[in-house]
Amino acid sequence: MNGKSEHKLKHIPQHLAIIMDGNGRWAKKRGYIRSMGHKNGVDALRNIATYSAEIGIKYLTVYAFSTENWNRPKSEVKALMTLLVSSLKKELETLTKNDIRLTAIGDISLLPAKCRRELLEVMELTKRNQRMTLSLALSYSSRVEMVHCMKKIGQILLDGQIKISDIDEALVENNLFTFGMPDPDLLIRTGGEKRVSNYLLWQIAYCELYFSDKLWPEFEKEDLFRALQDFNRRERRFGKTSEQLQEENTP
Ligand code: FPP
Repeated sequence: MNGKSEHKLKHIPQHLAIIMDGNGRWAKKRGYIRSMGHKNGVDALRNIATYSAEIGIKYLTVYAFSTENWNRPKSEVKALMTLLVSSLKKELETLTKNDIRLTAIGDISLLPAKCRRELLEVMELTKRNQRMTLSLALSYSSRVEMVHCMKKIGQILLDGQIKISDIDEALVENNLFTFGMPDPDLLIRTGGEKRVSNYLLWQIAYCELYFSDKLWPEFEKEDLFRALQDFNRRERRFGKTSEQLQEENTP
């Protein structure tokens, strides 16, 4: 399958968000240690990111490490951070070749210094790439993001730069980690669980949700294509009625 399958899809989401779940179970099924699942998860991410850019997705935001993941066994956290550093180094070429800009959302100040340095370097080196923005949610939690946003707005208010009546949705959006990005149109979660796990809670207000039973390391382009076909069958009403939408679309 290549970018040519694009013609079969009328609508391509502008922003795709993914919860890459199931790495641990993938490894366990094969008798490997959990970190092998994460390593193979990077391969899946490379394939999906490249394919997403090829078919015209402009923003891909993936949940790579949640705030809650800091509570995993020390050895797994260490393995994930080491994998992050080595992947960032290795994937620079793929990012450049595919014109993908890398960015991050989350409290990256909590990452080990080496990870942060590597991340900031790859972000700097890819900042002019235009085909797609790949955002890694790292040390990310939606509720922490909202608290962070409230503190920022509180400070602007205390500084006298705005009045209470100036607080609106646009001001909130401008103070989230996802500032400048459109909201996700489609959220895919792999691994069979059907929940959103503190991920982009403000941003997914009108997002379509798609759940796949595939474990993340085995999620392939074909699976993404199927999710996009399903997305194309959805009627996105944004609170309106079907009839209103039909009228709007009648020339
Ligand atoms: C969830 O699977 C996955 C994660 C917590 C990590 C996701 C990370 C990657 C795919 C690696 C890519 C990231 C970078 C950039 C290095 P799980 O471990 O919760 O799986 P389980 O539910 O089967 O236990």
